[in-house]
Amino acid sequence: MSPMFVPGPVDVAPEVAQAQTRAMLPHRSPEFEAIFHACEQRARALFRTQYRVFLIAASGTAFQEACVRNLVTERMLVVVNGGFGKRWADVGRTNGKQVDVLEVPWGRAARPEQVAEMLQKARYDVLAVVHNETSTGVENPVRDIAAAARQVQPEIFICVDSVSGLAGAPLEMDAWGLDVVFTSSQKALALPPGLALAAVSDRALERAKEVPNRGWYLDFLRLEKHRLKDSTPSTPPVGLIYALDVQLDRIFQEGLENRWARHERMARMVQEWALARGFELFAEAGYRSRTVTAIVNTRNLDIGDVNRFLLQRGMRIASGYGPLKGKTFRIAHMGELQPRDFEFLFEALDEYLKKHG
Ligand SMILES: Cc1ncc(COP(=O)(O)O)c(C=O)c1O
Repeated sequence: MSPMFVPGPVDVAPEVAQAQTRAMLPHRSPEFEAIFHACEQRARALFRTQYRVFLIAASGTAFQEACVRNLVTERMLVVVNGGFGKRWADVGRTNGKQVDVLEVPWGRAARPEQVAEMLQKARYDVLAVVHNETSTGVENPVRDIAAAARQVQPEIFICVDSVSGLAGAPLEMDAWGLDVVFTSSQKALALPPGLALAAVSDRALERAKEVPNRGWYLDFLRLEKHRLKDSTPSTPPVGLIYALDVQLDRIFQEGLENRWARHERMARMVQEWALARGFELFAEAGYRSRTVTAIVNTRNLDIGDVNRFLLQRGMRIASGYGPLKGKTFRIAHMGELQPRDFEFLFEALDEYLKKHG
């Protein structure tokens, strides 16, 4: 396997990839429903929730939209300190909602006080915040933001995009009082893309009953009705559910907290390597992502060329995101990567720097 140090889709363990090739089952068969049921029950532990988890054929962005459609009648506040917060605000606007934005410079984390200040000025149905901004390598302090938000507006619905965080960085849905947390399969969960997972609280489900025009595909109430029958309103990605079943075994065998610790260890390795080579880190200290590091391209490397070199050794890193392309590059440390993989990466990068740096 050639390690991909990119923030998704990431490498998938062979036995997990293999699971997808099992004979298909009709999704409304008792055999499939049993697998689906077990996955849904066990997936709750990933979110640290007692509530339900919806598993659908979609990528994570679908649940950005689901939060908007199910919970917002009038107004939402979106924390924007990177490309994915920006997308969420756009999703809100394109669904006809009134969206206010807490703009934080890219590379910095949103502070609880900043969120509280916004909430003092207006009432919002939803606070939307990205846990781990993949575009900048910043981890927002979601626990503290949620606590500060509840102090000002106890009834607000707190929705968290943990697409590149969940299963790689600590997140405690119930203990932190979050209403919706969602993720995609192709990031720290280390599954192929195509499955989106969202944990939804009881009060969020109750709220959806009051919201008109929720649409069909992402309607929480329809998803819940089918989940209670261990199913989905439309066809689920059967092969990906098989893969999830195997991957959940592997994740819990490692232990979720051990997995978080492994990600943190790899993050530190990358940070130390970059700083020792004279690079700067794009994310501010104290809020650096456990799953992806954005490195300021102070040495003006051509990342396409770096990747041509790395690919000969079966490796790949990521360029900067959106407006940060060229200005930063990203090394992801999520999923099934192990600290020893980074020794090979650093060796190759050092060789490249020696030749071209
Ligand atoms: C933080 C974050 N949110 C949302 C998305 C979009 O996820 P998807 O491509 O699964 O829709 C991404 C993808 O990189 C992401 O990193």
